[in-house]
Amino acid sequence: KTRILKINPLKIEEEKIKIAAQNIREGNLVVFPTETVYGLGANALDEKAVKNIYKAKGRPGDNPLIMHFDKIENIKEYVYIDEKLYEKLKLLVPGPITFVLNKRSNVPDIVSANRPTVAVRVPAHPIANKLIEYSGVPIAAPSANLSGRPSPTIVEHVIEDMFGKVEIIIDGEDVDFGLESTVIDLTEDIPVLLRPGPILPENLEKIFGKIKIPEFIYGKVKVDEAKAPGMKYRHYAPDKKTILIEFSDKRIDIIKEKVKDYKNPLLVLFEEDKKYFEGYDIIVSGKINDYYNIAVNLFSMLRKADKTKNDVIIIEGVEDKGLGISIMNRLRKASSEII
Ligand code: TXA
Ligand code: MG
Repeated sequence: KTRILKINPLKIEEEKIKIAAQNIREGNLVVFPTETVYGLGANALDEKAVKNIYKAKGRPGDNPLIMHFDKIENIKEYVYIDEKLYEKLKLLVPGPITFVLNKRSNVPDIVSANRPTVAVRVPAHPIANKLIEYSGVPIAAPSANLSGRPSPTIVEHVIEDMFGKVEIIIDGEDVDFGLESTVIDLTEDIPVLLRPGPILPENLEKIFGKIKIPEFIYGKVKVDEAKAPGMKYRHYAPDKKTILIEFSDKRIDIIKEKVKDYKNPLLVLFEEDKKYFEGYDIIVSGKINDYYNIAVNLFSMLRKADKTKNDVIIIEGVEDKGLGISIMNRLRKASSEII
């Protein structure tokens, strides 16, 4: 039932985009690449189609979706926004960021999970943008993984989770960032960061002034469910036991102690730390300071680690700074034990 359309993002074949857009208009599900992760899309104005998104993912009905637009102008039809704020958003889009705003009545309740707000985003990916443009409607899309699994960053992982459940999968090559968009709530006087992502707090503060960064962003306290409905679920979690080692100068010694408890551990280590663990099964996450590279590979690494015969995954964490905040946000959610 699923058709795979291979499209080169740098040389887009319009014919293929038209087929995918036609499917969106007919109420079908289309998986498409964005600059962050792959998205599972449907016509946001078609309740039945949106219902099928929840079904295909196995997603809880209280976790709202993001509405994707090809141009920022078009959000005005669906959300309330004053000119001053609108001018600020224009500085950030297109790009890996999602804005939560008060919705107008034409946004179907199923998209926003019955909330008074809706999340909107203008992706910076030529295939996503053309698809939305040709569809002529906003596209509701969560990440294209089964609920609870890591978001797909390469088409093989989309196929693992979505083949047979959707009409079209667009194979548009690997994504650029590998972490989901930054989500910021703009409905209060001081903007609130709901999910850290590629657009960093320091970028946001340049545009919005002071912003609130709730403690749950660091994954150390319970999520405020009223604010961030999606963040309460265990996420990104490999089926295998996953132990996260927080970054510190003592990390090598801590891991050396920890491996003694297991028969056959898999270590996910920085390039620089590999040399201390000769003879062990190792996946390299990247160079110790190259957070961009670690982020791009993070989710496909977690999937790869889950498929091996090892009895436990022991993974080195990065520092909570810059993009590291987003990496640790995902890793703390993925882990069953944090040391
Ligand atoms: O990068 C991305 O954002 C990807 C690509 C496909 O665009 N999409 C994505 O969607 O990550 P999803 O559904 O996996 O994550 C959306 C997050 C969830 O945590 C959800 O709870 C939150 O945004 N969200 C959506 N609408 C919201 C709302 N009205 N209020 C608060 N949080 C909301
Ligand atoms: Mg998701």
